[in-house]
Amino acid sequence: MPRKVNYGLDYDDGYDDYDDYDDYEDYANANDYGVKEKDLFPFPEVTEKPSWNDRSTIKVEKKTTKLALWQCSVCNSDNEQSSSSCDICGVLRDPAQNIGNGSAENVRGKCKDSGASIMAKSLFAQSPCQRPEKAIISDEFVRESSNKPSEKAKSQASFDELQKIFVASHQGHSLSIAPFQFNTLSPDDMVSVGKISSKKSSKVSANNTGKKAIAKFSATNEMAENSSGIISGANQLNGSESGNANIKSDAPQILASDLHQMKLDKASTNFRKAKPLAEYKPEKWMLANQDGILNQLNLAVVGHVDSGKSTLSGQLLHLLGRVSKKEMHKFEKEAKEKGKGSFAFAWATDESAEERERGITMTVAVAYFDSKKYRVVLLDSPGHKDFVPNMISGATQADAAVLVVDASIGSFEAGMDGNGFGQTKEHAQLIRSFGVEQVIVAVNKMDTVGFSKERFEFIKSQLGNFLRSCGFKESQITWIPLSAMENENLVTSATDARLSSWYEGSCLLEAVDSLQLPVRDASKPLLLPICDVIKSHSLGQVAACGKIETGAIKNGSRVLVMPLREVATVRSIERDSCPCSVARAGDNVAVSLQGIDGVHVTPGGVLCHPDYPVTVASRLELKILVLDIMGPILVGSKFEFHIHHAKEAARLVKIVSLVDQKTGEAAKKTPRFLTAKQSAIIEVALDRAVCAEEFSKHRALGRAFLRASGCTVGVGIVSKVFSDES
Ligand code: GTP
Ligand code: MG
Repeated sequence: MPRKVNYGLDYDDGYDDYDDYDDYEDYANANDYGVKEKDLFPFPEVTEKPSWNDRSTIKVEKKTTKLALWQCSVCNSDNEQSSSSCDICGVLRDPAQNIGNGSAENVRGKCKDSGASIMAKSLFAQSPCQRPEKAIISDEFVRESSNKPSEKAKSQASFDELQKIFVASHQGHSLSIAPFQFNTLSPDDMVSVGKISSKKSSKVSANNTGKKAIAKFSATNEMAENSSGIISGANQLNGSESGNANIKSDAPQILASDLHQMKLDKASTNFRKAKPLAEYKPEKWMLANQDGILNQLNLAVVGHVDSGKSTLSGQLLHLLGRVSKKEMHKFEKEAKEKGKGSFAFAWATDESAEERERGITMTVAVAYFDSKKYRVVLLDSPGHKDFVPNMISGATQADAAVLVVDASIGSFEAGMDGNGFGQTKEHAQLIRSFGVEQVIVAVNKMDTVGFSKERFEFIKSQLGNFLRSCGFKESQITWIPLSAMENENLVTSATDARLSSWYEGSCLLEAVDSLQLPVRDASKPLLLPICDVIKSHSLGQVAACGKIETGAIKNGSRVLVMPLREVATVRSIERDSCPCSVARAGDNVAVSLQGIDGVHVTPGGVLCHPDYPVTVASRLELKILVLDIMGPILVGSKFEFHIHHAKEAARLVKIVSLVDQKTGEAAKKTPRFLTAKQSAIIEVALDRAVCAEEFSKHRALGRAFLRASGCTVGVGIVSKVFSDES
């Protein structure tokens, strides 16, 4: 099964607070730290928030439930009569009002949600699939144990404990209100016209942002011996019910002490002077080609909530033999029993009980499949607005992306909503900001619009304009009409005459194969931003997961674990769930470490070469582009600051200058506040230090995002690092 990336405690996912998604008001009024908007400090108060009920033009849907609720025709969620659009997926009640072209007639009467029967048809009509030699990820022990109530209770206890500490340590943070639109230049564009230039160079995909550094637990006792153990341990605590097995009864105490020790204690750091980069000479083994081994391609699947990302991922994995017929049959049966028959494919990646119950993805799932050219690392991201930070953390590893859009009437339009509710736009803007240049737009659910060419062309023109405005080149965008549910145009050409009559392009799998691999830089010192940590407290073992941005490692390599500057030795490496002795730039790996206390390995940290430590700083100068925010950003404004997989509370301490977007030159004028679409150089102070580098030195560690009140308010690059050592 796919590995779930664990985010530990997330600023945004106070799961307990979000139990009731229908209660939009409650959580719309609480910021990421649980502080009410009225208490917020920096942004001027926004009296009117965009409301779903404002859409006066919307007609009332005829279909209502007994309890005066209406059911969303796309995600089947029940919504209150007063809501004019679905609280979960944002689909309007009367889609016909929003049709952008004349395709309504084409789609009338078509089934929007094919449900289990069509799924079953497509499932069992497949030619027999080979069960993969290795499960994508498996650890029966973990799954079995995690179902035991006693173990769940322990996991929950530790989670609660963590949450208390975390909330206590973050009290007083406040955020600003700033809905925005994404029709502005990407940071790469800013950089390309800016002084801190990065000539069009190859890069090891972009990076940014992440999550709170929180320890996780591995359930495995065999991490070192059994390579699958490393990854399988990722079925850990994620704040939901996917609690862990094997957590000792003292876990809360351990976690508590972990959390406290995570604070940078400079006095106890193992300071080692960095060598000049020019002195670095890679060893021969680092650069050697791996004959016969497929290159890894990190592919993020992103898009608006309910667009079908997980269904697409699950269907692909099933068609390519990574999820067996038996497993699919089980998913189908269980999903049907729970009244979620149409989500059966999504269950392949939506593993937690909470995700399945709600029918939404909450954390990124990592799965693997082979195409002709690549070993694809599939990162199925959450589409819901509340989980954008999780999406950011997973998708920063992407070399390329599949942007899934829902072709059905009203749903595509909901994804394009510019008021912070349309994640098609937000995700597209974000992935471009991560440095992703190649995107496949999977226009999904074409079955719901009768595979209408007009609808496809309409979506292509609308979204195409937006993608170009984000900085995607026309030649780097591939458009594929498909139906994940009905298995049309995924791994083979379309068979439905309604599609094949007008579409002759490649299917999704062929499009994946036609993606170009970004140049990997194994010749530089090691840099591996830690996305995920798996720990076995009983054995004192720890594994760090993430994508190697530069350099290479092998078993026995010495690595420096930042920001706590602990040296460790690589005990074993796992790539694609298989053990390997060497891993190079671009590889997504789990690295088991020895000689280090697991407390010192945290998500958001970085593994690097002992002689070339990454910079640690709590004050940074950023060159940012302000997105379409409503109110101004003032000195003193507080944000969630994201950089690679690290996330930290930050405060704007200085606006250095505005930047002329045409020349990239700093303007003389120093404004007192920033407004939408302005480019500026600013200084931010972080509550705690993070690993960061100037963008010109390390792209992956030099991209930053500022978020507030659940919206991305600025994207940018690190232009100066005020190192804590200096
Ligand atoms: P989040 O991860 O929560 O953002 O959702 P998602 O994008 O992963 O969507 P998911 O795969 O969970 O699917 C949402 C709904 O769309 C489910 O009911 C699916 O059955 C349905 N769906 C997905 N693909 C198709 C399709 O090709 N055709 C039809 N008719 N329905 C589809
Ligand atoms: Mg999903």
